[in-house]
Amino acid sequence: MSIVEKFISMEYGPAPEDPREALVWLDRHGRRLGHFINGAFQPPAQGQYFDTADPSTGETLASVAQGSAADIDAAVKAARSALPLWQSLTPHARARYLYALARQVQKHSRRLAVLETMDNGKPIRESRDLDIPLVARHFYHHAGWAQLLAQEFPGYTACGVVGQIIPWNFPLLMLAWKIAPALATGNTVVLKPAEFTPLTALAFADICQEVGLPAGVVNIVTGDGSTGEALVKHPDVDKIAFTGSTEVGRAIRKATAQSHKKISLELGGKSPFIIFEDADLDSAVEGLVDGIWLNQGQVCCAGSRLLMQESVAETLIGKVQDRMSTLRMGPPLDKAIDIGAIVARVQLERIQRLVDQGVAEGATCWQPPALALPSRGLYFPPTLLSNVHPTSIVAQQEIFGPVLAAMTFRTPREAVELANNTVYGLAASVWSESINVALQVAAQLKAGVVWINSTNLFDAASGFGGYRESGFGREGGREGLLEYLEPAWFKNAPRLQPKPLAMDQPLDEQSDLAAPSIDRTVKLFIGGKQARPDSGYSMEVRGADGRLLGEAPLGNRKDIRNAVEAARKAESWGKTTAHNRAQVLYYLAENVAQRATEISSRLAAVVGKKQAEAEVQQGIERVFSYAAWADKFEGAVHDPPFRNVTLAMLEPLGTIGIICPAETPFLGFLSLVLPAIAVGNTVVAIPSEAYPLVTGDLYSVFETSDLPGGAVNIVTGRSAELMKVLAEHADLDAIWCFGDEAASSAVKALSIGNLKQVFTNEGRTLDWFSVEQGEGRWFLQHATQVKNIWVPYGE
Ligand code: NAI
Repeated sequence: MSIVEKFISMEYGPAPEDPREALVWLDRHGRRLGHFINGAFQPPAQGQYFDTADPSTGETLASVAQGSAADIDAAVKAARSALPLWQSLTPHARARYLYALARQVQKHSRRLAVLETMDNGKPIRESRDLDIPLVARHFYHHAGWAQLLAQEFPGYTACGVVGQIIPWNFPLLMLAWKIAPALATGNTVVLKPAEFTPLTALAFADICQEVGLPAGVVNIVTGDGSTGEALVKHPDVDKIAFTGSTEVGRAIRKATAQSHKKISLELGGKSPFIIFEDADLDSAVEGLVDGIWLNQGQVCCAGSRLLMQESVAETLIGKVQDRMSTLRMGPPLDKAIDIGAIVARVQLERIQRLVDQGVAEGATCWQPPALALPSRGLYFPPTLLSNVHPTSIVAQQEIFGPVLAAMTFRTPREAVELANNTVYGLAASVWSESINVALQVAAQLKAGVVWINSTNLFDAASGFGGYRESGFGREGGREGLLEYLEPAWFKNAPRLQPKPLAMDQPLDEQSDLAAPSIDRTVKLFIGGKQARPDSGYSMEVRGADGRLLGEAPLGNRKDIRNAVEAARKAESWGKTTAHNRAQVLYYLAENVAQRATEISSRLAAVVGKKQAEAEVQQGIERVFSYAAWADKFEGAVHDPPFRNVTLAMLEPLGTIGIICPAETPFLGFLSLVLPAIAVGNTVVAIPSEAYPLVTGDLYSVFETSDLPGGAVNIVTGRSAELMKVLAEHADLDAIWCFGDEAASSAVKALSIGNLKQVFTNEGRTLDWFSVEQGEGRWFLQHATQVKNIWVPYGE
């Protein structure tokens, strides 16, 4: 073909990347790689290996070790032994190791990109321009955090030994997202890469050796799900960080329920890609190429649901089809390829199965007619499913392939409804030239990341992670570091020894005690009204000396259901201004202060006069404290290395179920309920079973404090029973439980249904009277989630 003919046809010639360096690296390891434990490559204890192949050719690249429980144990021991040394280093010394890792990744970036593409099948253009540069950025950014740790996180300490399990879609990038913050905060690590893509993690092990990272600080054990399971179950692991399917995320939540392992889960998504009629449609279509066809759609935050405003739907579908026809699919090492190979046959079959099911449910399937599949390798053509019903499997389930499901909407409100109509909440992309529409919609989306007029942007300074069943915890940013840290006092707090509440002084010394009236009965407090229990039964409440103090309703499942419904209805509380919430809380403090004597004299019958007075006094301060926080616990603006700002907004979780501590019935209730409502959550609270009569004092102050009905609901009864109902409730966003160890295990195990966020004291003792332990940022952080809204600027 002459040059002139080439200019006319604009045909691409082959542009293959040279794989030699990567192959030399594999050969240097004899194409057989062991685990990386205690600073050295080691053969697996049971001598088993498995092959990892190039999905674009089917050729075996190397065999890698299949990790057993014995290998995991050796790696955890190495990580544990390395911990004292790693933690004894100065922050500066740790920062230098992270910096060295970043530099070394950059130096080997080409080899790493090629190896990634060969093992995973993603286009070299992506591994070279997106994955590996972001890996380096992550280590650089976290080298900085290592340096600043003590100044920026005073009073916090590392979790300890961290187990990390990563998927196959961004193998080295996910490793960086996990290892960089863990090391920066002084943890040591055992990481298990995905079985389809173990090679770049092992190349990273080489890099750890090259920079002289102390042995045992990073350990890498390869293997399949059973290896991951062994890591999750290992008793000497302090934290598990997982990215992968929601199903395995649930299994991990369950498997760790009986332990005190901290967990963070980054799970699946079904992210909406919303295009309004005033959008720049051509830019939106270009965005869509990245949104759903990046990495063959095997992206947890892929914009896999195209939501189009009806007036432009037809035009858009035409434009999308035209653009799809120009996508080039083929050998991923070719630099001019858009779509590479699918990671494994099982994934390819899964994609086909879901597409077939979608079509059977009425969707119309379109694939570029002229697109030829390569003769070998695992390929799936870019696919557009239109006329998709919002309840269809392809609109609800993560396909994890190059498949776009298109739907239409009429109004912004309908767009938000459709967008939020899944169990997930990872990401969303919003396209409109109107900043008002875009930001208004962004605020209403249930998603951890929202890209405005952009998509799939990531940066180490901006947290990434989901709402709802997309998991909890963030990676990147300040919030990502907190996943690897704990307040030092909490880590060292003794376990709670359950003991009955006792008077701190004999009754006859409490001369000014108002005689508690025998027939004091309280009601439930639901939707701002006092309510009788569904059961029609009450329970007796007795003082520390056995006297009958009164009766409290025996709440049941139905009462909890009503309370959750009322709390949901009151969610506009989260939309009032922070100033308003502060005002309501100040007013509440005033009202508690006015009734202080009355409240403490009643409470004294259960906890003694001294404690009662202290609880009420500290309680008033606590209300003031959260009134102060209400308009000061704020997000941040990040400045990522693109033409964007990222608004890191702190949003309430929604509705939280709270099981209050037994030992301080009044102060404990306020210490948990106030941070939740200060930031805009609504609450269903179960007061201390030892003194449920506190409910009467509380609702009388709530009723007179302008707190909207339903913002706080109180159900008395048997704590363990009500806790179970709350933990299993599918419409609660989070559950907080501050009781003994058994209660904390139970809420974790019971809450896996909708993967609600769990916050417990892990059965430890908290000093509710202390400001350090009983209030502040730690509680507020658990009451909020970060939504990162990426806003572009410039033409
Ligand atoms: P997966 O969740 O099974 O695998 C992710 C990681 O977890 C791998 O390292 C795997 O070995 C490990 N693992 C598997 N079972 C485990 C267990 N019981 N305990 C501990 N670790 C375990 O995901 P899979 O099977 O590779 O992909 C299936 C589907 O999951 C995909 O089609 C996609 O929908 C979704 N997925 C989502 C990802 C995300 O980033 N959100 C990443 C990978 C998959």
